[in-house]
Amino acid sequence: MSAAALLPTVAGIGLRAPHVRRVLSERPPLGWLEVHSENYFLDGGPALAALEKLRTEYPISLHGVGLSLGSADALDLAHLARLKQLVARIAPAAVSEHLAWGRIDGRHLNELLPLPFTEEALALCCERIDAVQSALGRPILVENVSAYLRFSADAMAEWEFVAEVVGRAGCGLLFDVNNVYVNAVNHGFDPHAYLAAMPGAAIAEIHLAGFDDRGPCLIDTHGARVAAPVWELYRAALERFGPKPTLVEWDTDLPELEILAGEAATAQSMLEQAHAATAA
Ligand SMILES: [Fe+2]
Repeated sequence: MSAAALLPTVAGIGLRAPHVRRVLSERPPLGWLEVHSENYFLDGGPALAALEKLRTEYPISLHGVGLSLGSADALDLAHLARLKQLVARIAPAAVSEHLAWGRIDGRHLNELLPLPFTEEALALCCERIDAVQSALGRPILVENVSAYLRFSADAMAEWEFVAEVVGRAGCGLLFDVNNVYVNAVNHGFDPHAYLAAMPGAAIAEIHLAGFDDRGPCLIDTHGARVAAPVWELYRAALERFGPKPTLVEWDTDLPELEILAGEAATAQSMLEQAHAATAA
């Protein structure tokens, strides 16, 4: 099962509820839209009706936050069945989830919690990704997450873990450049070493977002413009991997659509430079 990139190699935005009405009525020139899958786990209603209209105008990416690929609990088959139903209804260009966990003893914690970078966690994630891909009948993308702690049991670096999961599971990689930067600052590593370890051909999507730097560490809030060093790291990623479908995520303190679209336009201009460099 190959993780072919079906998203266009342009910039898109994460679409959140306050912007849906305007996007529907004005159809702004956005490359594609990403939504959180779980917000559409319904059999009907206005949100789903809006998404069904939008899918006729824009490529759609379904981005999951609740499948808990790394949980020691068994895979939530009811959740997977709802995702499968949504994928069948929307026929998205991409389906993604996080390399994280958020469920224990049957309780969902609504968090993307970090995994220990061990062989055991690696095997568990690969088994789950395989089960999800088999159930959906298509490859998924998995995303590297931001984390505020490390485990003493870690047996490898984060970038080795991420690359190994993608290689073994045969899935695609949703490479979140902001998460790499946040973790690099908080845990003291060189983000370029992370980039160098990534399997470029498997990267089917890139995420950009803003963080909060007012505390003792960077917090991945998705509540600000993309920071200058993250743009620099994004440029380095494009130079290394070539142009990739790129999404600007913004989830808290959501700004006017113009500001979000402006961030996507900045990504788009960098993508066009990368396209030109590839063609030269
Ligand atoms: Fe992300």
